[in-house]
Amino acid sequence: PTRVLTAISACLAMTFAGSALAEDPIVIKFSHVVAESTPKGQGAVKFKEIAEKLLPGKVTVQVFPSSQLFGDAKEMEAVLLGDVQFIAPSLSKFDRYTKKVQLFDLPFLFDDMAAVDRFQHSDNGKALLDSMTNRGIKGLAYWHNGMKQLSTNKDKLTRPEDIKGLKFRIQNSDVLEAQFRQLGANPQKLSFSEVYQALQTGVVDGQENTWSNIYSQKFHEVQKTIANTNHGVIDYMVVTNAKWWDGLPDDVRKGLTQAMAEATTYANDMAAKLNERDRKRIEEAGAAKVQTLSKEDIAAWRTAMEPVWKKFEGDIGADLIKAALASND
Ligand code: LMR
Repeated sequence: PTRVLTAISACLAMTFAGSALAEDPIVIKFSHVVAESTPKGQGAVKFKEIAEKLLPGKVTVQVFPSSQLFGDAKEMEAVLLGDVQFIAPSLSKFDRYTKKVQLFDLPFLFDDMAAVDRFQHSDNGKALLDSMTNRGIKGLAYWHNGMKQLSTNKDKLTRPEDIKGLKFRIQNSDVLEAQFRQLGANPQKLSFSEVYQALQTGVVDGQENTWSNIYSQKFHEVQKTIANTNHGVIDYMVVTNAKWWDGLPDDVRKGLTQAMAEATTYANDMAAKLNERDRKRIEEAGAAKVQTLSKEDIAAWRTAMEPVWKKFEGDIGADLIKAALASND
């Protein structure tokens, strides 16, 4: 009888194990490279909160900020391998997957974030979310950060000639490389997690980024001047593995789609406020000087950077550039 009992309990154990397995929540990893206090950091936290509320017991979302899980160099590959399910790289980091998204790196293309938003909501903007599906990458949403500012370890930073010969850290983007070369500076592609140290040790003299990234990474503590150039944009595309996404149970995909839409609205509403807050914090900290620029100064930067457009017009498409420009009105 003991043997029979053992057999029965083994059977029961297996049944429970089986049903427990079937009910295990799907673990979704969301990896990104910035601090939690930034627009993207806050968006990821919000997505987790909403997804787990809409799909109780069905999904668990784990958020990994600050390159803890994967940094710039590995995160796209990790999505394709299924090691992580969501990432939100800056739009500057997709040029190995699609040439079209390089559009967003053209200097002085968009007048402000409202224009960026209008373009992303247009048919042309939405189509770019699907521009990497042939590579297995599906775009789910655009998330805002903000306009880029230029910083260096020099006192004078008002005109393009002030950065001649200086070394700049850039994101992994050929357009940004061309932009700095056009100005007679030396660009160097580095992962986001390496920037602080590169600035601190003088491996590079300067960088370009949003107020929230500058503040949260303490770049202002290792730079002398930050010029309020607004010369370009740092925004994001939240992407996932297309095959994994298509293979999800319908109710889960639907819930995640809704969570993504709500988190997107939340993050995009917060972005401007967080950047404004961090600009103030940088000014109050008093470590680096915030250099405001006159209309004439800005015009000089624009003129100096303009030739970059022509170089990439073929890859990006003249029509797409025209459509983006139309969103400025
Ligand atoms: C950068 O590398 O400077 C940014 O793309 C980081 C980020 O994700 O905002």
